[in-house]
Amino acid sequence: MPRTYFVGGNFKMNPTTLEQKRVLVKTLNEATLDPQTEVVIAPPALYLISVLDLIRKDIKVAAQNCHAKASGAFTGEISATQLKDAGIPYVILGHSERRSLFHETSEIVAEKTRAALDQGLKVILCVGETLEERESGRTQQVVEAQLQTVIAVTKPEDWSHIVVAYEPVWAIGTGKVATSAQAQETHAETRKYLASAVSPAVAESTRIIYGGSVSGVNCNELTVQPDVDGFLVGGASLKPEFVNIINARK
Ligand code: G3P
Repeated sequence: MPRTYFVGGNFKMNPTTLEQKRVLVKTLNEATLDPQTEVVIAPPALYLISVLDLIRKDIKVAAQNCHAKASGAFTGEISATQLKDAGIPYVILGHSERRSLFHETSEIVAEKTRAALDQGLKVILCVGETLEERESGRTQQVVEAQLQTVIAVTKPEDWSHIVVAYEPVWAIGTGKVATSAQAQETHAETRKYLASAVSPAVAESTRIIYGGSVSGVNCNELTVQPDVDGFLVGGASLKPEFVNIINARK
């Protein structure tokens, strides 16, 4: 069965006003979107519930993070249990900004992934290497190590609820997009790894999407790569060109 194309918009800590949020939602609500593409937007936690209420029903909503514990004295955190209760179906975990700026290890990411899956949430699991790791030939080793901790706490059947987002750190917010050959190579290697570490069926069915300076222009070249199953978009998801990225396969 072909993998359903997936485009996510990671708004990060944007927009900064309720009015800008209203405009973003309106733009998407009024756009003509490819019905074959699964679209998920991840606004900041503050806006999750209002976006869920206002956005058209064929666009899903994701949190950008969650805590592994269900409740308790964790100031500033939101749990997978709370996301589930609020009707939020997806959560982004392991984003490189969380790994580097908020010191989340792959073990923490795995623990959060397990908690999210246990609540019935779907997970957009981010992995990717730094420039130094790429230049020293360690891309695959890094990506596999980041996946391995999650594989250790999951069963093959969990993987129908996981989308892997390959986001090379050096391409995030830098305007330096990976070439389509670089993306294809890493996606293909990652799929091969999933085949051996989880199962060939899981490798075949798991969406592996690309993130890092995706735009309404460069998406066209990336989208034809056989192992690129969509995108996780940062900056461009705040602009009208996000619609072009969603429709890249149309
Ligand atoms: O999660 C999306 C991301 O990190 C890529 O950001 O701004 O380079 O598209 P950007």
